[in-house]
Amino acid sequence: MKLFLDSAMTDEIAHALDMWDMDGLTTNPRHVMVSGKPFRTVIAEIAELVKGTDKPVSVEVNPHFTGCDEIVGQGRELAALSPNFVIKVGACEGGFKAIRELAKDGVRTNATLIMSVAQAWHAARAGAYFVSPFLGWKDQFGDSSDSLIGDVRAMLDKFGYKTEIIAAAVRNARQIGDVAIAGAHCVTAGAAVYLDSFRNPYTVHGESIFQSSWDQTPEA
Ligand code: E4P
Repeated sequence: MKLFLDSAMTDEIAHALDMWDMDGLTTNPRHVMVSGKPFRTVIAEIAELVKGTDKPVSVEVNPHFTGCDEIVGQGRELAALSPNFVIKVGACEGGFKAIRELAKDGVRTNATLIMSVAQAWHAARAGAYFVSPFLGWKDQFGDSSDSLIGDVRAMLDKFGYKTEIIAAAVRNARQIGDVAIAGAHCVTAGAAVYLDSFRNPYTVHGESIFQSSWDQTPEA
């Protein structure tokens, strides 16, 4: 399973690329807003950080765009800015048609805000390169995301679609393992979730036992 960082903070991205060897990046309008920089500025900076690699960077079209033509127009324009860019398109009727049109041009897309197998089906059938089921957003409102990744994976495999799943809106370290087992091709999470996934209180406890033992062992 590939590990993507979900962020538009360039210092955080640079650290994650260097220290954690991320396989790719995802952004969204909220991450761009948090960066405090204009959309075009921040995506240009991110493109520079991955230049010369094959790491995909998902950049989202204007979320006000729900019609096929406007999504395709901006999607083509953004895709021309960097070979790393994958165009994020919201799951909606016009979005699925736009995914189909962009695929004809060879533009890779990431169908975002996927909440159901049916939406993932429409995206895969339209030729989406990635689908992003949003686990945390379902859980937040009392729905369950427990089976979504496994169900989408079963659907893709059953019908032979090459679309890859990015498990998105992942909120804790446990979910990274869960989505891997469920068959996600990729997971995207924030830096804080990855940091939590590296450590465990029992490991820290174990280290302190070993350190104490080391210190009490007589020297030669
Ligand atoms: C994924 O591509 C999304 O950017 C992301 O997971 C959205 O969720 P969040 O910003 O609430 O984590």
